[in-house]
Amino acid sequence: MSSFWEKIRRDFPLTRSGLYLDHAAGGPLAEPVRIRMQEALRENALEADFAWPRWMKRAERCRAAAAKFIHAEPEEIAFVSSTSQAVNAAAEMLAGEGSVLTNVCEFPSSTLPWIWRKAKIFYQKPRAGGILALEDLQRQLRPEVKTIVTSSVQYATGFRQDLEALGQMKGRRYLVVNATQSLGAVPFNVKACNADIVCSNSYKWLMAGYGGGLMYIRSEILRKFKPASIGWRSVKDPDAMKNRKTAIRSEAARYEMGVPGFPAIFAVGAAIEYLMDIGIEKIFRRILELSAYAAERLEDRGFRVLSPREERFRSGIVIAEMNAAVRVWKRLLARGVFVSPRGGGLRIGPHFYNTPEEIDRLVEILSACRDEESRNSGRKGVKK
Ligand SMILES: Cc1ncc(COP(=O)(O)O)c(C=O)c1O
Repeated sequence: MSSFWEKIRRDFPLTRSGLYLDHAAGGPLAEPVRIRMQEALRENALEADFAWPRWMKRAERCRAAAAKFIHAEPEEIAFVSSTSQAVNAAAEMLAGEGSVLTNVCEFPSSTLPWIWRKAKIFYQKPRAGGILALEDLQRQLRPEVKTIVTSSVQYATGFRQDLEALGQMKGRRYLVVNATQSLGAVPFNVKACNADIVCSNSYKWLMAGYGGGLMYIRSEILRKFKPASIGWRSVKDPDAMKNRKTAIRSEAARYEMGVPGFPAIFAVGAAIEYLMDIGIEKIFRRILELSAYAAERLEDRGFRVLSPREERFRSGIVIAEMNAAVRVWKRLLARGVFVSPRGGGLRIGPHFYNTPEEIDRLVEILSACRDEESRNSGRKGVKK
């Protein structure tokens, strides 16, 4: 391992205990992020609301960092508590505009908010290997489709969509991206992909803990649509405490209706600064190397890899096909190995601080668990 990654790895104390390879489920806080969070909690204990002016300024610095990270403007960023909250805000704006085109692979948070608002929805089906081909999507772009909803990376196949090509193809339609499985792992440029709304929580590849997230709302969309729900902080001058007038702010922050969720916002800001310090391009290349290595090693040991193998479709997620995936997963857990049963097998998601040696260990342990499981189910079969 190069000394660069070796040094970075020291920021992740969980590497000293188990074998953690599931950032598609949840990521750890890096030590510098944890330390900044603890400092904030200490300030909260010692200062309570005395810290308010400083914390408000700090939250705005976090917003600026988030905007820079995805090539947006700070005015286009709202802090949210989950991806689901952000997609609901998107659906509040766009569900009335016309039909929605999405796909059958999406995580429920991408689709349920539109179903709930009775939008007519068309679903693209994937090709073999989970590929959501843009040619197929284009064929489904009927004139009545006004919004395209897609994940940047699919949670159960690892397929990575070519968002820039999709952004070209969308024409005058709205593009809503669920970036939960890519933010923090894959560079994201809202301008290059012509996205209208981007939604992501904070606890996966971003490694900013639970309870936070961000939403990008393009400035034209902010101008065009009013929020369906507002609170005292959605207005231009909240401190005026006007309770009979609604002068709504123009920025995306109007979706933060009450007092900011400071700890979650600070964690997002600290994690983004940490990732930008390393460099998101560098992180992406490292993740692609590790996930390619995992796919190769799995195939060497006779596993079928269900996630895409072609570089342009790959992400940090690798799915190894597995019968009795839940039982094998439990065996892995008992040995201190963390992956998830998803997508017809086991989902492996290494981040930049993981190592090829850890992947070797995972594949060895996984082979042993698979063999144990098949011996066990064979014995059960004989008894019957
Ligand atoms: C693509 C995707 N979207 C959304 C979620 C859940 O997001 P939240 O719990 O923040 O609503 C997940 C969780 O696995 C996911 O993989």
